[in-house]
Amino acid sequence: MTNPAQRQVRDLLTTEILDDSQGFVDVLGDAVTGRSLSLSLMQNPMFAGFYERAWRPAFTRLFSLGGEATADVDRELVEHLGRPGERRILDVACGPGNYTARLGERLTGDGCCIGLDFSAPMLRQAVADNSGERVAYVRGDAHRLPFPDDSFDAVVCLAALYLIPDPKVVIAELMRVLQPGGEIAVFTTVRTRLSGLPGVQSVVGLTGLHIFGRHEITRQLQRAGIADVEQTITGQAQYVRAYKPRRGRDQKPR
Ligand SMILES: C[S@@+](CC[C@H](N)C(=O)[O-])C[C@H]1O[C@@H](n2cnc3c(N)ncnc32)[C@H](O)[C@@H]1O
Repeated sequence: MTNPAQRQVRDLLTTEILDDSQGFVDVLGDAVTGRSLSLSLMQNPMFAGFYERAWRPAFTRLFSLGGEATADVDRELVEHLGRPGERRILDVACGPGNYTARLGERLTGDGCCIGLDFSAPMLRQAVADNSGERVAYVRGDAHRLPFPDDSFDAVVCLAALYLIPDPKVVIAELMRVLQPGGEIAVFTTVRTRLSGLPGVQSVVGLTGLHIFGRHEITRQLQRAGIADVEQTITGQAQYVRAYKPRRGRDQKPR
């Protein structure tokens, strides 16, 4: 049985489906990009099992160094992006679907939220914990999104860019599949006084994590033609939000 969101995924995909027997469509097979301690952890079924309930809440607090700032911005972001409407949202590196389901639940009409991740254990967890009428999951690589240009109203990549081997390519892909006028939101690391201390990047780097320079992501978006890039720094993390320019028109969201 397929829900309306899963049917939309099949219509949208630009790549052959290799398997669909586990509640998500797999277009990746063995073609996984990158190896590191962090990426291996994401492939671990036990980690996938406690990620949403234990790891992510702790990590969110850690990013604010115990404060509430990250959680507050996060809540506002989900409220805004998941507002009612007939929009198509892509959640890149969705993990166990902890955002995918929340972004999809209030959409209307043919609106849907598609979660994409390269970890089969994460996606099995997503299907078990975060399924819904307007939600579908794809196993694919963020470096090569299996969707046509200009096909989403909003694209998010949360808590993932810092462990992805080639984040510049991924940001270019997020922009490619986003419709003109559509919204992009990224949550990731940022260099601060603390994370800029000598040795911190090297130690963190051993796990495969990357701490982004203060303007690394905003500048890439600006170079891609976006005038208004909003950056909110919450402790050791940043939210970057922007609208892809409409061709020759204003930048208001749909
Ligand atoms: C820390 S989890 C983030 C989950 C969720 N977005 C959140 O904010 O809690 C990072 C996810 O990125 C995924 N990931 C890492 N590299 C990827 C890639 N190249 N393509 C797709 N997913 C990737 C991992 O499998 C993992 O599920």
